[in-house]
Amino acid sequence: MSVPPKQFHLNAFLMGVGHHEAAWRHPRTEERRVLDVRHFQELGRIAERGKLDSVFFADGLAVGPRIKRNTLAVFEPVTLLSAIAAATEHVGLIATASTTYNEPFNLARKFASLDHISSGRAGWNIVTSGNEEEAFNFGFDAIPEHARRYERAQEFVDVAIQLWDSWESTAIVLDPEEGIFADPDKVHSIDYVGDRFRVRGPLNSPRSPQGRPLLVQAGSSESGKDFAARYAEAVFTAQRTLEEGQAFYRDLKSRLPKYGRSADELKVLPGLVPFIADTRAEALALEQEFTDLISPDYALRQLSSLLGVDLTEHALDAPLPPLPTESEIEGGKSRFTLVKELAEREELTVRQLIGKLGGGRGHRTFAGTPEDIADELQSWFENGAADGFNIMPPYLPGGLADFVDRVVPILQERGLFRTDYTATTLRGHYGLDPVESQFAHVETQVSA
Ligand SMILES: Cc1cc2nc3c(=O)[nH]c(=O)nc-3n(C[C@H](O)[C@H](O)[C@H](O)COP(=O)(O)O)c2cc1C
Repeated sequence: MSVPPKQFHLNAFLMGVGHHEAAWRHPRTEERRVLDVRHFQELGRIAERGKLDSVFFADGLAVGPRIKRNTLAVFEPVTLLSAIAAATEHVGLIATASTTYNEPFNLARKFASLDHISSGRAGWNIVTSGNEEEAFNFGFDAIPEHARRYERAQEFVDVAIQLWDSWESTAIVLDPEEGIFADPDKVHSIDYVGDRFRVRGPLNSPRSPQGRPLLVQAGSSESGKDFAARYAEAVFTAQRTLEEGQAFYRDLKSRLPKYGRSADELKVLPGLVPFIADTRAEALALEQEFTDLISPDYALRQLSSLLGVDLTEHALDAPLPPLPTESEIEGGKSRFTLVKELAEREELTVRQLIGKLGGGRGHRTFAGTPEDIADELQSWFENGAADGFNIMPPYLPGGLADFVDRVVPILQERGLFRTDYTATTLRGHYGLDPVESQFAHVETQVSA
């Protein structure tokens, strides 16, 4: 029997009418779709047409000073994905939620609900929220320290996992004749007492189809990578060159044994913003059309927030001013370093830098034919830099439809991507085993 070729995973990272910061100003988009749930349901169906593993929404908990120039994401992701769940059948649904500004009980319940509503397709992108403006909405005068945020995240996820496990999979009896809904011996309090949380449990939601959502993470600092190695089953990352991608991949996988995990239990998904056209020249021209629509004042604010330096009055045709070191950054450390190194390596002026960041805020942009894009993905996959990709269409829905209808068939033909769904859950799409409750067979009882 021949061994099937190894295949990679594809996630569609969706944002408004596209990842490019000027997407909403380009004729390929309809700006009013950002407020229309049917737009997002259509995106879910397009992703499903391409047999993609999942769709994903990022989230932030503040508007910030950039609202004038950009159609920022407006819907809360778990709510939005519930609406997409009702319009799709197979595609996984990954929502971002913060461990810094939530409580484990509320959040565990929401993800359990999304997993029930979608019949086992929920995923959680665990973020610690590195933006200062978010802190101001939750009673803080500054961002809680980077290290403290990751400590809280760790405790938060431990509690959430215990809550999801508090119902065993066979706890629901549903016997109307005897009048029994659940077997109390299989519903456990967790009695968690830690530094930051005290939670009795059990969760007020029965065990969901996947047991728990797929755990996703996207931090790339030292603490971020350790956190990922401990918990994450998929990692989104913003590596720009094959060499950086390979180094990150090796680094992350080498941390897994420390937590008793094997390389297959965590999938690394670098981001790619694809501009797709019939020829390379047309694809580059298309990318340039978007770059020309960037509002410099918006881009400078974005860059200031990424680099922790006020650049709003900085000359566009000058290089960056001296920057702080990564250790001085309390927001996102790895993205700071990525942008700093990009500007230094390519000796960019600020104008050139904002052009390069416009497509995906630091993620790799690639303009080419469908074959070029397929070659690029294949090369990263076969050279140890990726288990799959986080596809970030620069404009929507067209950019996703082009990827699904023009690139995916090439990948399928090359045996690199599935031609149909073979699993029913998101964990299944990512080749992960179901998880059993840690309390199964534990003799405790909750009286209701
Ligand atoms: C693809 C991708 C998506 C992300 N989405 C979010 C998000 O929705 N919300 C958020 O607060 N941070 C998001 N982040 C930021 C990360 O969670 C993390 O805070 C950031 O990479 C800095 O982490 P570090 O300090 O460990 O380097 C994202 C990062 C990547 C690479």
